[in-house]
Amino acid sequence: MQGYRAQLLRFDAQGQALFESDGLLVTSPGVDGVQRVVDAGPHAAVAARHPDLPVTHWPGRIIAPGFIDLHVHYPQTDIIGAPADGLLPWLANYTFPAESRFADPAHAAEVAAFFFDELARHGVTTALTFATSHPASVDAFFTEASQRGLRMISGKVLQDRHSPEGVRDETGQSLVDTEALIQRWHGKGRLGYAITPRFAPTCSDAQLRGAGELAAKYPDTWIQSHVAENRDEVRWVHELFPQSRSYLSVYEDFGLLRPRAIYAHCIHFDGEDRALMHASGAAAAVSPTSNLFLGSGFFDFGAAQAANMLHGLASDVGGGTSFSPFHTMLAAYYVGRESMGKAGLSLSPAQLWFQHTGGAARALGLDGVVGTLQPGTEADFVVLNPAATPLLARKSAQANSLDELLFGLIVLGDDRVVERSVTA
Ligand code: GUN
Ligand code: ZN
Repeated sequence: MQGYRAQLLRFDAQGQALFESDGLLVTSPGVDGVQRVVDAGPHAAVAARHPDLPVTHWPGRIIAPGFIDLHVHYPQTDIIGAPADGLLPWLANYTFPAESRFADPAHAAEVAAFFFDELARHGVTTALTFATSHPASVDAFFTEASQRGLRMISGKVLQDRHSPEGVRDETGQSLVDTEALIQRWHGKGRLGYAITPRFAPTCSDAQLRGAGELAAKYPDTWIQSHVAENRDEVRWVHELFPQSRSYLSVYEDFGLLRPRAIYAHCIHFDGEDRALMHASGAAAAVSPTSNLFLGSGFFDFGAAQAANMLHGLASDVGGGTSFSPFHTMLAAYYVGRESMGKAGLSLSPAQLWFQHTGGAARALGLDGVVGTLQPGTEADFVVLNPAATPLLARKSAQANSLDELLFGLIVLGDDRVVERSVTA
């Protein structure tokens, strides 16, 4: 057993923030070797329950759940900030050429290692990430994640049409490769597989149908894709799938809406789409820095809450502009003002933080596993320095409430705040 003493931020099952100004987190390895939280709370009370506990003390620091990135593309690490008129030219001019390089296993391994270093520097301990259409990109990702003992989810991108040579795959082989990768990686240690149709325009009916069949055969795998991100994309989907009621219903028609299905963006939705998300148990990955950068639009937080639609925050690097959860939470706050401001509301700092930790875990079906630092959960946590910059030091010293402290970090924070990421 090991104790960690500092200020302590946790969340309860309802998403309420719990905070101790002098807290103690106690962890212990399970039979699988994974460190889990066994006790947490005020230092005096928790320490009394564990008399001979070795304790690491971080005065002035905050222990908080590791951040969860609900949608990111590790192979797009090198194209952050690539300008384009919008999604479709951005894919054609930057994304597909960059992803074609992942046919080379050495390139994939080098980028995967850099990507995990970046996640750790930014306090992200779990991510649902796209690889590329090349199986080698998935092997590189999981090999590196496994060596680092991380809880990570990824999958081979399926894209058998409307894609250039170099990233386009072949329908039958793509499904054979997907099933082999599920068997190789899903459930190995803390790794999970996500069936990954890129988006409806680049997948044939046969490929989507095959993906849906695998999703039914392996019900505890994840599904990840994109939906209703950009107006040109939505128009294209209506042309390609005239029989489907909406872009989202295309995925429903192929058996790709279920718990553990995570759809990036969900911007150009109507009420029926949100009701369908809720009824199916699928979740939205909200990527405000990407949506602002690519001019895609504004996720409607108010409507998502009203529809009880699962959602959480995501960087969407490389459409997204930053790996930093602080940057993503701030962008989400701005966007939330737009949609919720009509009702005179805005997202609170604790809500934003929850959407990037415990709320994202819930969207993944991993509540009780990561994201809250509740007893029994895996001990992936960050150690934050609320005085990491001169301005933050002034701001944090003047905070009169948890909301004020968290807001200062969200508005002024970045990787300088993250002193360490500790993974179970
Ligand atoms: N839609 C299909 N592929 C992509 C991608 O790589 N990034 C984003 N943002 N949207 C997509
Ligand atoms: Zn994406």
